[in-house]
Amino acid sequence: MSQLLVRGGRSLLGEVAVQGAKNSVLPILAATLLTGGQVELRGCPRLRDVDASIRILKTLGCDARWEGDSLLADTSGLNCCAVSDILMREMRSSAIFLGAILARCGEAEMSYPGGCELGPRPIDLHLAGLRDLGAEIQDSGGMLRCKAPRLRGRDLVLSLPSVGATENLMLAACGAEGVTTIANAAREPEIVDLQGFLNACGAAVSGAGTSTVTVEGRHPLHGCTYEIMPDRIAAATYLCAAASAGGEIYLRKAREDQLSTVTAVLREAGCAVRADRGGVGCVCRGRLKSVRPVRTAPYPGFPTDAQAVLMAALLRSRGATVFEETIFENRYRHVDELVRMGADIRVAGRVAVVTGAETLHGAPVRCTDLRGGAALCVAALAAEGETSITEISHIDRGYECIERELRTLGADIVRTELREL
Ligand code: UD1
Repeated sequence: MSQLLVRGGRSLLGEVAVQGAKNSVLPILAATLLTGGQVELRGCPRLRDVDASIRILKTLGCDARWEGDSLLADTSGLNCCAVSDILMREMRSSAIFLGAILARCGEAEMSYPGGCELGPRPIDLHLAGLRDLGAEIQDSGGMLRCKAPRLRGRDLVLSLPSVGATENLMLAACGAEGVTTIANAAREPEIVDLQGFLNACGAAVSGAGTSTVTVEGRHPLHGCTYEIMPDRIAAATYLCAAASAGGEIYLRKAREDQLSTVTAVLREAGCAVRADRGGVGCVCRGRLKSVRPVRTAPYPGFPTDAQAVLMAALLRSRGATVFEETIFENRYRHVDELVRMGADIRVAGRVAVVTGAETLHGAPVRCTDLRGGAALCVAALAAEGETSITEISHIDRGYECIERELRTLGADIVRTELREL
């Protein structure tokens, strides 16, 4: 087991390139199944969740290997349509493979992804949409047994704009006869990236980024070379790190148009954020100011995935900031750990009030989830003394070597082996 040791108090200075987007590459890896060919994914981040997806592809008989920062996937050898329970539990977003396997094989078997650290993570909208497209799904004892010898395109309406359901249905619709429309679709940039990948493989998908996605099914798909978009949540995390520690950083490849709700809040807090064609820079001097209430919402609203890191950046601000989490039930688990570092945070249901403290101090803390873990790093950069952060496998799910990136920016952070007592 590893831990991160962070000695706070250094301001950040320098530039890094933003990694490829986790939430983009995961559905795209599932989508490679539809091609039955060779795909090169450039700028693919090396993450635990990517490793889990590779293991799923391999158990299905496909091949995947790294060549530098490209991942080469060859799905021509697919010979199985079942994903084991262990793999399904390893990565909660594995449900996205359902639509792709069904479209390619006409059947699929996997266990329910179940709940997760953010609270219950139902997939009822995924299943309802697949049934509407003609899949027969037996759901018993935590197992999903699906048959769809013939999927048929239909007009689907999501009751809420679920990212995963939109992606799953886009993949299934590629294998369906005729045209599928998905109304009230999620509008996240990662869905636009999935559309970009599918079309590069020969599919006919349009409307991603708006609330209606249209898929003309059954176009013959082939392999392609595709560059994964930059990770807007990793970018938000490093901007919040600079806001927390102070300093001046530049994030190559970051796209402000995909980060505008986060950069607007950072500007309100007193940071100078400037964007150009190559990336986004941020200068932060002195204590931040509190900001107007931050309410998470589906894109283009404030991302739930950036709530924890922004909260960490505001722990030493002047005044109080109200957060309202509207997407996931259990998204304040990092709060108790931040309080150990001297943070003043009160939580009542979906609302958290952060009152800026004069100082934070280092403490032993533990990651409770991916973004909560990143928030501990952000807070530790501004704390006096040393913070040890354990259970960092959560962080490794979504950040490619966070300590390397923060060290490049001047932080005092190392990964060490933790001896178990
Ligand atoms: C994706 C992201 C995750 C991000 C989230 C919201 C990936 C791999 N993960 O997760 O990082 O935090 O979007 O931006 O892209 N819901 C249902 N029934 C369903 C599906 C979802 O009730 O069938 C609910 C969820 O419980 C949640 C809300 O809808 O409250 C949003 O979930 P969704 O957009 O589906 O998130 P994910 O795709 O799981």
